[in-house]
Amino acid sequence: MADGGTLPETSGIHPISGGVHLGIEHESARKHVTGTAAYTDDIPELPGTLHVAVHLSAKAHARILGMDLSRAKQAPGVHAVLTFDDVPGEGDIGTVMPGDPVLAPDMVEYAGQAVVAIAAETLLQARAAARLVEVFYEELPAILTAEEALAKDSFVSPSLTFTRGDAPAGVAGAPHRLTGKLDVGGQDHFYLEGHIAYAIPKEDGDLLVHSSTQHPAEVQHAISKVLGRPMHGIAVECRRMGGGFGGKESQPAQIACIAALLANATRRPVKFRMDRDDDMAMTGKRHDFHVIYDVGFDTDGRIQGLEMDLAGRCGMSLDLSNGVVDRAMFHADNAYYLPAARVTGHRCKTHTVSNTAFRGFGGPQGVIAIEHVIDEIARKIGKDPLDVRRANLYGGPGRDLTPYGMPVEEPEILAELLDQIERDSDYRRRREEIDAFNAKNTVLKKGLGLTPVKFGISFTVKHLNQAAALVHVYTDGSIQVNHGGTEMGQGIHTKMAQIAAQEFQIDVDRVKVTASATDKVPNAPPTAASAGTDLNGMAVRIAVRTIKGRLVDFLAQHCHTAPDKVEFRDNAVFAGNHAMTFPEVAKLAYLNRVSLSSTGHYATPKIWWDREKCEGRPFFYFSCGVAVTEALIDTLTGEYKFPRADVLHDCSGSINPAIDLGQVEGAFVQGLGWVTSEELWWDQQGCLRTHAPSTYKIPTSRSLPEDFRVSLYTARPNREDTVFRSKAIGEPPLMLGISAWLALKDAVAAVGGHKLPVHIDAPATPERVLLAVEDVKARMAASG
Ligand code: MTE
Ligand code: HPA
Repeated sequence: MADGGTLPETSGIHPISGGVHLGIEHESARKHVTGTAAYTDDIPELPGTLHVAVHLSAKAHARILGMDLSRAKQAPGVHAVLTFDDVPGEGDIGTVMPGDPVLAPDMVEYAGQAVVAIAAETLLQARAAARLVEVFYEELPAILTAEEALAKDSFVSPSLTFTRGDAPAGVAGAPHRLTGKLDVGGQDHFYLEGHIAYAIPKEDGDLLVHSSTQHPAEVQHAISKVLGRPMHGIAVECRRMGGGFGGKESQPAQIACIAALLANATRRPVKFRMDRDDDMAMTGKRHDFHVIYDVGFDTDGRIQGLEMDLAGRCGMSLDLSNGVVDRAMFHADNAYYLPAARVTGHRCKTHTVSNTAFRGFGGPQGVIAIEHVIDEIARKIGKDPLDVRRANLYGGPGRDLTPYGMPVEEPEILAELLDQIERDSDYRRRREEIDAFNAKNTVLKKGLGLTPVKFGISFTVKHLNQAAALVHVYTDGSIQVNHGGTEMGQGIHTKMAQIAAQEFQIDVDRVKVTASATDKVPNAPPTAASAGTDLNGMAVRIAVRTIKGRLVDFLAQHCHTAPDKVEFRDNAVFAGNHAMTFPEVAKLAYLNRVSLSSTGHYATPKIWWDREKCEGRPFFYFSCGVAVTEALIDTLTGEYKFPRADVLHDCSGSINPAIDLGQVEGAFVQGLGWVTSEELWWDQQGCLRTHAPSTYKIPTSRSLPEDFRVSLYTARPNREDTVFRSKAIGEPPLMLGISAWLALKDAVAAVGGHKLPVHIDAPATPERVLLAVEDVKARMAASG
C-alpha cells in the first residue's frame, strides 16, 4: 500500500496496545527478575581495563602535611596514583558553588574524603595499593553536629526566613503554647547498585563515560572541568541505575571524574566500582535536622502562630543544600494553614560528608517537624490527633495561603483524602479497639498514627524545569525515543514509551527508549524532584507532534485531502478515504523526503520564585496523600511491628497505575525505614560507624506492615496541563511513612494512659522506643 490506495481489512490495523493510563509492565521487568538487565558493571570490559580504589581520610578535619605514595606506586599491578595536584584542569567540582574538591587538596574536611586515587590491573591490586598510602596530618578541631554548628555560627550559606503575619504575636496571644525540639536523623540511599563509572578513552583525548547517574549532563560538565577540555568531547551515558533515590544526582560526578582522570592519565579504559563501605563513608546522604519550635494554638488545637527553626546538617560543603533546606522550609506547613508563621532554615557546616539529595529533598524533614508539632498539640489538649489535623487543614474561606505566599488551589483534595482514609481504615472504630487493647495489656501496647502529605512539584530552581527529547521514526515504522530523563527503577522509560505510542497511535512494543546520553539530548536537568515524567513526557509529546505534523501535511497533499481529515488510529493513518499502516506511512514519507526525526523541548509554565523576597509560585501544583499506620510495641524490649497500614495517594491521570502503585508502596516503606530502623551513627572522631548492612538496617520484607493496603485516589485529574493530566509520584508518598513513627509514639503514650508527653527523636529505633517507655514509666512512678 506504499502508494496510499485504499487498504482492505488486512493485518496491521488493530487497536493499539499499551497506550497511556494502562498498567503495563515495566519495560525491564523481565530483565530485572531474570538478571539480564545490564547495569554499568555488566558492560563487557574492554581489554586493558584498569580498576580503581581510593584512599580515604581517617580524620574529620586536618591539614595534610605530606604523603608517602612510594609504596603504593610500586605495588603490583599499579598504573597510576593520583592526588589533587595531578588534576590537569579545575580541581573543584562543586555543583552549585565551589567546595567539593575531586580529591582532597591540602586539607581534609571529613572522615571518608577521597585523598588519593589508584588504578591497577585488578580491583584487589588497587585496593591493596590504597592501603599502602600514608598521609601525614595535623589534626584540627572538628564540628560534627548541626546543634554544634548553630552554636558556633558555622554555615555553608546564609540562613533564610519566610514570614507571614506576626508569628511572635500569634504565639504569645494564643490560649495555649508549646515549645520544643526534635532531632531527625539522616538516611543512606542504599541503592542496590553502588556508585560506578566506566571511562573509555577515544581519539583526540575524548572520552565515553558510562555512569550510574541521575544527571549525565552534570557528570559531563564535571569531567570537562577536571580535564580542562570542552564538553563536546565527553559523552556520558546511562542505560539504567540500580536505584538512585537522589544519591545519584550530584554525587556520581566525583566517581566519574576519578575514573576519567585515571583514564586520561593512563590512556586505558578505567572502571571505578565502589566498595559498599567506601560508598557509604565517602558519599552524601539525607540531611539530618535539628528542629526548634514555639507554637501557639486555641482550645481546638488550631494553630495561631508558629515559629520554627530548621537546622540541616549540610556537612563540609554546599552541594545541593540550599535547595534541600529551602524545601524543608517549603514543607514546614505540610497540609496545614498557618495564619502567622516564621520559618527559618539554617545550612549548618560540619566536618562530615556533604549531605545531598534524597527522595523528598528536605521535604520529609519539614513535614515530620510540623507533624510532630500537631501531635504534641493533640496530646496537650487531649484530642484525637486526627481531629487536630482536620482543624488545621488548608481549606475554607481565607485559609489557602502558604507561608511563602503561594495559594493551595485545590485544598478539597486534602479533605477528601482524609475522609476516604478515615472510612477505609475504619479509623474511629480501630481507635476504640486499640484503647480497649491497651487497657487490657500491660506489656504490649498499640498505637495509631496518621499523616497527610502535600508535596510541591517543580524544582525550586526555575531553570531546571525544562526537558528535551529526540524521537526517530525508522522506515519499518519502529520508533526510537531518547529523552533527558534517566531510568532508576521508577519506570520513566516505560511511561515515555506509552506516551509516544499513544501519540502515534501504535503498539507500545514498537517503541524503544534508549540509554540516556549527553550526545543525544544535551544539557538535561537531573531526573529528580519527581518531575521526570512531567518534564520529559511533555518533551516526548512535543517531538512526536512535530513529526506527526509533518506527516499530516505530507499525507494531506499526497492523498488529496484536508489536513483535518488525516487521523492516526489503530496502528494506522487514515487520510481521506485512504488507509495505511504506520510502517507504510513511514516508508512512504521517507521516499517522499519527509524528515522522520525531531527534537522536542518543554519548559514548565507559571512557576517563579524570588528567593531574595521569598515570594512567588515555586510549584506548578501539589501532590497529596494520606496514610494511617498501626504499631504494636513490646514495652519490655522496645521491639515493634506494624500490624496494618492504609495508604491512599493522589495519582489521578496516572500514565501507568501499576508502576505508580509500586512507587507508592516503595516510597512508603523507604519512609518507614527512615523513621524507624535506619540509624546513621558517627563516633566522636567523626567516623561513620554504620557503613555496611551489618550495622545499618534498611527495611526488609519483615518490616512491612502485615496488612498493607495501598490504593490510588483518582477522583480529580490534574487541574494543570500536565502530560495526559498525570501527577508526579516519585517522592511524595515517602512522607507517609512518618505515620509509622507517629504510631510508635502513640503506642508509647499509651503506657502513660496518654496523659504524659512523649518524646522520641527520629528514627524511633527499638532502643529509642524502650528508653521512651522507661521515661514514661519513671515519670508515672515519680508522680505516684
Ligand atoms: N523508584 C525506584 N525504583 N528507584 C529510585 O531510585 N527514585 C525516586 C523515585 N522513585 C527512585 C524511585 C526519586 S528520588 C525520584 S525524584 C523519582 O523516582 C524520579 O522519578 P520520576 O521523576 O521520573 O518519577
Ligand atoms: N527533589 C526535590 N527537589 C529537588 C530535587 C529533588 O531530588 N533536586 C533538586 N530539587
